Amino acid sequence: MSIKRIGVLTSGGDAPGMNPCVRSVVRTAMYHGIECYGIRRGYNGLINGDIVRLDEKSISHIINRGGTILYTARSKEFMTEEGQNKAVSMCKLLGLDGIVAIGGDGTFRGARALSKHGINVICIPATIDNDISCTNYSIGFDTAANTAIECIDKLRDTMQSHERCSVVEIMGRNAGFLAMYVGLAVGATAILVPEKKFDFEQDVIEKIRKARLNGFTHYMIVVAEGAGSAADISAKIKEAIDLDPRVTVLGHIQRGGVPTGRDRVNATKMGYLAVEMLLAGKTNRIVCTHAGRFTDIDISEGLAMHKDIQQMEVDILAALTGI
Ligand code: F6P
Repeated sequence: MSIKRIGVLTSGGDAPGMNPCVRSVVRTAMYHGIECYGIRRGYNGLINGDIVRLDEKSISHIINRGGTILYTARSKEFMTEEGQNKAVSMCKLLGLDGIVAIGGDGTFRGARALSKHGINVICIPATIDNDISCTNYSIGFDTAANTAIECIDKLRDTMQSHERCSVVEIMGRNAGFLAMYVGLAVGATAILVPEKKFDFEQDVIEKIRKARLNGFTHYMIVVAEGAGSAADISAKIKEAIDLDPRVTVLGHIQRGGVPTGRDRVNATKMGYLAVEMLLAGKTNRIVCTHAGRFTDIDISEGLAMHKDIQQMEVDILAALTGI
């Protein structure tokens, strides 16, 4: 089947780098003489026919913009059989020969449903959580990590002046990849992630005590939202030791901002590859990175995979923190 017209959508939580990815999809499509439409508000846009023609003008100057010009949503209607049937009929009505779906696990499950109904679809991983098991890298993680690092560096200045303890909550839903990375980058006193069971006394209080014995007078505790709330951890610290920690929840700040060079370039490569894959007759696949190379995998196979925090990071955490 020849590809003459495609759609591109962003779905789920937004991630810095989605815009450069959309740009790359559109430019690659134009290079091949393919018409490209932006489907707005995730799968809701597919159900409602909420589409907009994209060309070089509509995607100009978005390579450096956070968020997504296509808007995004977590569509409840698309999770139903009826919603999916509506979306499939709309795809046919609009004459879309393929769809590029940019987002996380939920987006991929939606794409798989479309594929089961015969729609050609390629997925691109984009989530600050970096919790998509089949890929080492997902768009947005690098920018979010650098945003959090910059914020914590600022926090450290005031924590140091006041000789305080700071408890910082990092996003990631049920995953601790972002918190672990950020915690290592800021030299945290302790890092708590949901993937690794922790003993509060040993992994937090003991580390603070050791740091104190070594002459440190301020302490940075990084907690992944999936491992507990910063407010709870802070209250427990206050109860256990003579400290009065300050709580910072970085929240959605981590989802915004100018995408880093790494996010822009990877988003550009992934967008390009997705269109090339549609042209090559591929469908029901996720573009991913593995061992430093770009590759692709069947959606169901990708969703069935499991990813864990690297053992090396856990070892480093044990060796370098609480000194
Ligand atoms: O998946 C991205 C993410 O930012 C998670 O880290 C967080 O738990 C969730 O989305 C927040 O979702 P919402 O934008 O609906 O508040």
